[in-house]
Amino acid sequence: MERLDKILASQGTLSRRDVKEIVKKGRITVNGVVAKKSDIKIDIDNDTVTLDGEFLSLKEHIYIMLNKPQGIVSASESDTDETVVDLVPDELYRKGLFPAGRLDKDTTGFVLITDDGDFAHKILSPKNHIFKTYLATLEHSLSQSDINMLEKGITLADGTTLKEAKVEIIEDGEHPLVQIMICEGKYHQVKRMFAAAGNKVIALHRSKMGNLELDEDLKPGECREITLEELKMLCER
Ligand code: URA
Repeated sequence: MERLDKILASQGTLSRRDVKEIVKKGRITVNGVVAKKSDIKIDIDNDTVTLDGEFLSLKEHIYIMLNKPQGIVSASESDTDETVVDLVPDELYRKGLFPAGRLDKDTTGFVLITDDGDFAHKILSPKNHIFKTYLATLEHSLSQSDINMLEKGITLADGTTLKEAKVEIIEDGEHPLVQIMICEGKYHQVKRMFAAAGNKVIALHRSKMGNLELDEDLKPGECREITLEELKMLCER
């Protein structure tokens, strides 16, 4: 059981004081009965709450899939750039949203935005082996020995060790399109891996996290809430 004002204040743009005012005006009902106090305890799984007749979502956390466009930074706020959290529409927005893992400013694709720190830690920790899948367009062709090297894991010149990857050429050609799956998220990791093979990434897109593909109906800059079933797929190895 949680306090009504605490739950509502954690969901969106209302403060506890706002909730108090709204309750005073009789605008909130709990299970069909007008709430008289803002600190009453409610059961988020079973009780229904309305504001001005509209049902409110009482979920503890939210999980959002964004198709990140180029030029947007993976941060909650920035003084200089537009952030992935700025792209979340009002109906999904709540306090404490952050991107679970960062994509570079020029990388596109799947970013998970949430307010659930424990979940973010779980999917990002390399020891949980949740692979993130990227599509990299390369400047040069990739040899089988390059692939073998990247698949084994490498140590960079600065001593950074990068764990094993799964690498597959999707389209060969002058600028091959290569799928690479990694379970850690070190700084510029994919770019540095291909650089270690004497190559260069000219475009990078994250297409999948765990077993969950980026929804192809989401245009760049669009996002939607992830369902519970999809969340499970995200956690699959
Ligand atoms: N690896 C990179 O180099 N950049 C990203 O944005 C993600 C993974």
